[in-house]
Amino acid sequence: MDTHEPPSPTDSPAPDANRLKETFTAPFPAHASRWDSLWRESYTPWDRGGPSLALADFLSDQFSHSMQFSIARPRIPIPRSQGDRKKALVPGCGRGHDVLLLSSFGYDVTGLDVSPASIESAKENEKLHANDDVYALREGTPFRGSIDWVVGDFFSDETLDSSLEKFDLIFDYTFFCALPPEARHRWAKRMSSLLHPDGHLVCLEWPLTKNFESGGPPWALTPETYVAHLAFPGVVLKYAADGLDLSSIPPLENPPADALCRLGRTKPKRTHKSGLDSAGKITDFISVWVHTSQI
Ligand SMILES: C[S@@+](CC[C@H](N)C(=O)[O-])C[C@H]1O[C@@H](n2cnc3c(N)ncnc32)[C@H](O)[C@@H]1O
Repeated sequence: MDTHEPPSPTDSPAPDANRLKETFTAPFPAHASRWDSLWRESYTPWDRGGPSLALADFLSDQFSHSMQFSIARPRIPIPRSQGDRKKALVPGCGRGHDVLLLSSFGYDVTGLDVSPASIESAKENEKLHANDDVYALREGTPFRGSIDWVVGDFFSDETLDSSLEKFDLIFDYTFFCALPPEARHRWAKRMSSLLHPDGHLVCLEWPLTKNFESGGPPWALTPETYVAHLAFPGVVLKYAADGLDLSSIPPLENPPADALCRLGRTKPKRTHKSGLDSAGKITDFISVWVHTSQI
């Protein structure tokens, strides 16, 4: 089991929910520059100051084969030899903590963010912290993966050409929830097109306890929201004031060819503080998604 602890939190100012809300009332196309402005001002209340230990434990458990999954036990493509390199993507990577983490598991990782200031900060973070204990090369991992920092829009083929670039593992944490609900169908479409036919999308689901009516970002998520959007990539689903309108979801029995389906979902043993309730109980979940052809 992974015993590393994350570095101490950054000195971000205390979060101001209204500030984020007001910043992102602008139409979606304006969001990229809004994110960059916040990064330039060092207003980054979403930054957890360290990697997702839920992901670290999940990947470590893949080695130990002890992972108990409620639906199936997914096999995640952890590189095992120089000749078997695997590619990972962290969209909306921010300061890149999870990029460094995946590299310590041997993945060649692309850390992508639309904000140039975020990627500057990620490069600095790599310089300062890549050798921290939390990013030590994992037992059984023969090499550290390469890191490629990319500034660009996740949704654009100019950033990553989805006809050429496919990833064995994509990790989403606080990227899906950073997008307004009207962009969620596009998130699912893009995830599907960038995921290798044998690849795994791993989502650290958050925020699952937030009230949808309170707006965002972060915009509230539910397990059904992930299922519905990933089952119908690119399809606009209806939202009511209190969240996804479940009656607008087409029948799940006949998914389109590019659908992703859930291989498993589990409660992590550890997660970020923001994923705990007031009693200290973990509310986050890890879910793993594959192309339906994999099932
Ligand atoms: C809530 S932050 C999460 C950052 C990071 N995942 C973390 O855990 O610290 C969302 C990030 O997504 C980036 N982002 C927003 N829209 C994007 C887009 N269209 N393409 C790429 N990155 C985007 C923002 O710049 C921001 O860094």
